[in-house]
Amino acid sequence: MLKLSGGMMWVGLLCLSAAPAWAEGKADLKRAEEIVAGRCFLCHGMEGESSSPLFPRLAGQHAKYMAKQLEDFKSGKRRSDTMKAQAEDLTPDEMQALGLYFESRRPQPHEPGDRDLALVGRYIFQKGNSFSGVASCASCHGPKGYGTPLLPRLAGQHPEYIAAQLQQFNKRERTNDNAVMHAIASKLTELEIKAVAEYIGTLE
Ligand code: HEC
Ligand code: HEC
Repeated sequence: MLKLSGGMMWVGLLCLSAAPAWAEGKADLKRAEEIVAGRCFLCHGMEGESSSPLFPRLAGQHAKYMAKQLEDFKSGKRRSDTMKAQAEDLTPDEMQALGLYFESRRPQPHEPGDRDLALVGRYIFQKGNSFSGVASCASCHGPKGYGTPLLPRLAGQHPEYIAAQLQQFNKRERTNDNAVMHAIASKLTELEIKAVAEYIGTLE
């Protein structure tokens, strides 16, 4: 049996060694900033606050999720001509650094365009639709839409991007890891898609 003080030290060491190799310090954030300033900013903005609702906001998005998506764009697993061209020459280290760069940007608050629609969306997001068998979005993405390292943050995303992705999941046009979201999107009506997307856009 370790004494308390020894045990605490051991826990401290474990925490240190559990940090992934690319975590703070190792990831080349300077290089990431260079790449963002060179091209990503055109669509996603320097701070991850994208210039058009067609381009997803990346501020506060999870680093691991983003690195995985970049890998999938590069390999063609997630089909997008635009993003394939962007990811083609990125190394795994650069993808991880880019993920950490955008994760560290601060998400901005956004007002709903249509408050009534956002309220319908809140119901679906928080409670789902038990009449058609839609699980609540909150059960996986969290009550505030923050997600987890591998499950995307939705909070504050452009409603147009959310709606477009739901439609892509429905038709399996989002080609990577679509099984879970296909089952959900295929049960949503057009009104529900618009409403839940409107609500997600207002989450901070
Ligand atoms: C010409 C515009 C454009 C540029 C430049 C661009 N992107 Fe994108 N990005 C997009 C579009 C459009 C999508 C959505 C693709 C889709 O519909 O699946 C996207 C999606 C993404 C996603 C997935 C987000 C999510 O929530 O799933 C990540 C991560 C990403 N881009 C990172 C980058 C990085 C890093 C760069 C710079 C190396 C970059 N993008 C440059 C247009 C752009
Ligand atoms: C059973 C768990 C689960 C539930 C419930 C769920 N999702 Fe998801 N969702 C996921 C997973 C997992 C992914 C990531 C797929 C991937 O890795 O590409 C995802 C991805 C998404 C994306 C893509 C985000 C991006 O940045 O591109 C959107 C949009 C989304 N979900 C919306 C919703 C909405 C709206 C609901 C409720 C109607 C919902 N989800 C319910 C698991 C879930």
